[in-house]
Amino acid sequence: MLEIINLTITDERKNEVIVKDVNFTLERNDCLGIVGESGSGKSITSKAILGLVPSWLKVTGTVQFDGKDLVQMKTKEIRKIRGKRICMILQDAMSAFDPLYTIGSQMIESLCENLEISKQEAELLSIVELEKMRIKEPAQVLKKYPHQLSGGMLQRCMIAIAMAVKPDIIIADEPTTALDSINQNEVVTEFERLRSELDTSVIFISHDLGVIQRLAQTVLVMKEGKQVEYGKVEEVFLRPKHEYTRFLIHTRVQLTKSFSDAMRKDHI
Ligand SMILES: Nc1ncnc2c1ncn2[C@@H]1O[C@H](COP(=O)(O)OP(=O)(O)O)[C@@H](O)[C@H]1O
Ligand SMILES: [Mg+2]
Repeated sequence: MLEIINLTITDERKNEVIVKDVNFTLERNDCLGIVGESGSGKSITSKAILGLVPSWLKVTGTVQFDGKDLVQMKTKEIRKIRGKRICMILQDAMSAFDPLYTIGSQMIESLCENLEISKQEAELLSIVELEKMRIKEPAQVLKKYPHQLSGGMLQRCMIAIAMAVKPDIIIADEPTTALDSINQNEVVTEFERLRSELDTSVIFISHDLGVIQRLAQTVLVMKEGKQVEYGKVEEVFLRPKHEYTRFLIHTRVQLTKSFSDAMRKDHI
C-alpha cells in the first residue's frame, strides 16, 4: 500500500538532519504504530509523507504509493491524494479547522469535495459519522465554530471526516491525547472498527504502548529522528532489540505494576 524508503528530512536553514533514513511498509488493511518520545520526529515524518512540510525542510528518499513517488510529486497532484486517498488526523486539532467557518460548513465542504456528493447528502453523512463518534446533538455541533468546541471534540470531528471519506490510508497523529480515558477507549474502538469493516490501512502515532499493542500489527520505534526498531508487534514486544524499546516496555510494566499494587492496597 505504502512503502517508505530512506526518508530523510533536513532543516536547510540550520543544515540539521531532523529525521534520518526511515524505512517501513504499510500493508493493505494493516495498522502500523509509530511510538517514540516527544520530539523524536513522529509528526514530521507523517507530514512529510503527504508533502505537508514547510519550504525550509528538504525531504529526500521515496514514498511509494499506488505506483508513484509522493516525494517527487507536484503539489497539484499530491493535493488530489490528500484528504481523499490518504487522510491525516492532525495532532493539533485546532489548526486543522479554519476559525472563521463553522465545523458544519467545513465538514460538508470536505465531504462534497472528496466524495462528490450533494450538500444535503454531505450534511446527513456528517451527522451519521458524528453520531458514530458518540457526539451528542450532532446537528448542533455542526453549527459551532472551532473555538466553541474542546480539543477532544474537534479531534472527533476530524476523525469523523476521515471515517466518512473512507480513504485508502488514515494517518492519525496521537488522536487520543486530547481525550480522557473513556473517550480514548471509544476512539480506539472506532479505529478497530474502521480496519475490520473497511479496507483502510492506518498509521497510528501514539506514545501509549497499550494502544499500539491493541491496534497495530507492525510497530516502528523512533528516537531522536532515527528508527531504532521496526517489526511485528508481538516480536518487538517479546524480544525488543534496542535498549530504548526495552526501556519503553519496562517503564510501562512498572507503571502497571505500581498501579496494581496501589489497587491491592486499597482493598486491604
Ligand atoms: N516546521 C518545522 N521546522 C523545523 N523543524 C521542525 C518543524 N517541525 C518539527 N521540527 C523539528 O523536528 C523534530 C521532531 O519534531 P516532531 O516530528 O514534531 O516530533 P514528535 O511528533 O515525535 O513529538 C523536532 O526537533 C522539531 O524541532
Ligand atoms: Mg508529534
